[in-house]
Amino acid sequence: MTADQQKKAAALAALDYVESGMKVGLGTGSTARHFITALAAKVKSGLDVMAVPTSRATRDLAHSLGIPLTDLDKHPFLDLTVDGADEFDGDFHLMKGGGGALLLEKIVASSSRRMIVIADESKKVDALGRFPLPVEVVSFGVSATAWKIERVLKICGLDGKLTLRRRDNKPFITDTGNAIIDVAIGRIPEPERLSNLLNIVPGVVDNGLFIGICGIVLMGSKDGVKTFKKS
Ligand code: 5RP
Repeated sequence: MTADQQKKAAALAALDYVESGMKVGLGTGSTARHFITALAAKVKSGLDVMAVPTSRATRDLAHSLGIPLTDLDKHPFLDLTVDGADEFDGDFHLMKGGGGALLLEKIVASSSRRMIVIADESKKVDALGRFPLPVEVVSFGVSATAWKIERVLKICGLDGKLTLRRRDNKPFITDTGNAIIDVAIGRIPEPERLSNLLNIVPGVVDNGLFIGICGIVLMGSKDGVKTFKKS
């Protein structure tokens, strides 16, 4: 099974958790895309759901496939969010934001009774941090904010290399108009502490560590889809 086949298998398994009448958060990325496509087929055959997208790309895809959309102002409490991840560990901590949608993904997932992560087996790690941590920052004063992020890393006893994310030779801008600093750290021993300290830096909007939000991971693997449930 290729990584993409594993992603698709996990996405299809997530459909079992969707019931008619639910309000569903839709994640962003290639794995979430498999879920959105499969969900759209169910909607065509009569499943009654309304969805809240976590990015423009997801909104456009869901709309083009005929999934009824809503937003958190009309429906602040969702039943379920299904999203991918860049990494997950044994404590259901996640690293997200590789696609740049971490802020809306965190708002939507944390507004949901249940968040299910769908992933291929390469995303399972012993400790988060192999993937650079995306930190969404206000564009104003990026260098000053970066300096403060470095101070936070020092306080946590970590050493990280900061890179302003770029796309098409320009700074990458998120759907909400912010920039992203990717922080290559390596193993993060205390993700919750790091996340809390980063989020009190003026200029930091949020970071890609999702702590205490995800309760179920469906992981595609060579031996089929494995389900990890938080007890
Ligand atoms: C986007 C994300 C994605 O969920 C994450 O990057 C995983 O992407 P993919 O499913 O393409 O591997 O956090 O901001």
